[in-house]
Amino acid sequence: MFDEIEFDRIKKLPKYVFAEVNELKMAERRAGADVIDFSMGNPDGDTPEHIRQKLIESAQKTKTHGYSTSKGIPKLLLAISDWYKRRYNCELDPMTECVATMGSKEGYAHLAYAITNPGDVAIVPDPTYPIHSYAFTLAGGNVVKFALKFDEDYKVLEDEFFTDLERVFQETTPKPKYVVVNFPHNPSTATVTPEFYERIVAMAKRDRFYIISDIAYGDITFGDYVTPSIMSVPGAKDVAVESFTLSKSYNMAGWRVGFFVGNKKLIGALQKIKSWLDYGMFTPIQVAATVALNGDQQCVRDITDKYDHRQDVLVDAFTRAGWPLRKNQASMFVWAKIPDCALHLGSLEFSKKLLKEAQVAVAPGIGFGESGDEYVRIALIENDNRIRQAARNIKDFLKQFEDEKK
Ligand SMILES: Cc1ncc(COP(=O)(O)O)c(C=O)c1O
Repeated sequence: MFDEIEFDRIKKLPKYVFAEVNELKMAERRAGADVIDFSMGNPDGDTPEHIRQKLIESAQKTKTHGYSTSKGIPKLLLAISDWYKRRYNCELDPMTECVATMGSKEGYAHLAYAITNPGDVAIVPDPTYPIHSYAFTLAGGNVVKFALKFDEDYKVLEDEFFTDLERVFQETTPKPKYVVVNFPHNPSTATVTPEFYERIVAMAKRDRFYIISDIAYGDITFGDYVTPSIMSVPGAKDVAVESFTLSKSYNMAGWRVGFFVGNKKLIGALQKIKSWLDYGMFTPIQVAATVALNGDQQCVRDITDKYDHRQDVLVDAFTRAGWPLRKNQASMFVWAKIPDCALHLGSLEFSKKLLKEAQVAVAPGIGFGESGDEYVRIALIENDNRIRQAARNIKDFLKQFEDEKK
C-alpha cells in the first residue's frame, strides 16, 4: 500500500553490511554452531561495582524519576570539565562548553543535524565508524573521503594525512565546513601524536573549517602510548569539539552515556537541538556517570589491561595459525589484513566464509568504507580460551587456500 510514498532520508542509508554477517551468525547459532564472536565493539565485562551501586542508590530515591536535564545535570557537566582539566590541562566552562549525550553516537547524529545546512560538506577519512559520515548524509550534507594511511605499527602517516587533507580540501566545492577525526581510530586502531592536533588546528584556522574529534578509545592504550586530545592545543576551542564515551572505559555501553566538549557555538547548537528532542538521560544514570568520571580510575586500568592481554594472546595465536598480525597501541580491536591467500575474496565474502567454516565472526572491513576491504575488524571481547579455540579453527580453515594453490 502507498508504494508511491518513499522515504528519501531512509533511502540514503545502505543495507548495513554488518547486518548481513549478523544474520548469518544467528542462523549458524540456531543450527547449533558455537560461534566465537569478535564482530562487535560491545565490551563483555561488567560495569564496575561502585558505579552500579550508585545507580541503584540513586534509583531508590523518589526525586530522581522525573524528567532530567537534556544537556546533563550540573554535577555531571562539572565532572566532564574536571576530567578534561585533569587529563589534558584544558579549561572548559561546564555549562557552555560541555554537553552530555545519550552515548556519543546520539551526539554525532544530533550535532550534524544541528549544524549542517543542505549541501554542506564534511571530510571524513576512510574507513570510518559509520555514524561519522552518515550523521552528515542524514542531515542533508555531503561527505568527501580520503584513505587513511598508517604504518605497520598502526601509526598514522601524518605528513601524508595532511597532504591528502589539503588536496581534498582544495579540490572540493563548496569548501568543506567540517573535518571528522577519530584517534585511536575505529576500525583501524591507528593513533596520532600530539603534533597532529597542532597541525590540524592551525589548518582549520587558516582554511576556516571546524574539527570534530572522537576519542572514544582514549583510555584504552598500551605500553607508553597516551592518547592526545585536540583540546590540549591552545586555541583549539575556536575551531574544535571533541567527544568521549563511558561505554568502553567503564564497560557501560548499554547505559548510553557520552559527552561533547569544546567550541561554544557547536556545543550550544547541540545543547539547543537536544533541548527540543529529549529530556536527558535518566537522572540516576547521570549520577552514576558522575561517580565513574570522578572516582578511582583503577577500574579503567583493569579493563585496559584485559584488552592488552587479549591482544597479546590473539596476535600470537593467530600468527601461529598462519594469519600474521602485529600488535597495535590502542583500542579494543585488531585491524587484521586478510591473509594473502584469501585476499581475493574481499572482506565480506571472507567474513562469511570464516563464519560458516571456522565459526569465527568478525566485522568485514568494507562495512567501514572502501579502504577497509582488505581487512576485517576483530573485537577483543572473547576470553583467552575462546581466542585460542578460534585460532585452532582458523588454522584448519586456512589450509583450504594452501590446497587450492597446489
Ligand atoms: C569511534 C567510536 N565513536 C563512538 C562510538 C559510540 O559510542 P557510544 O554511542 O556508546 O558512546 C563508538 C562505538 O563503538 C566508536 O567506536
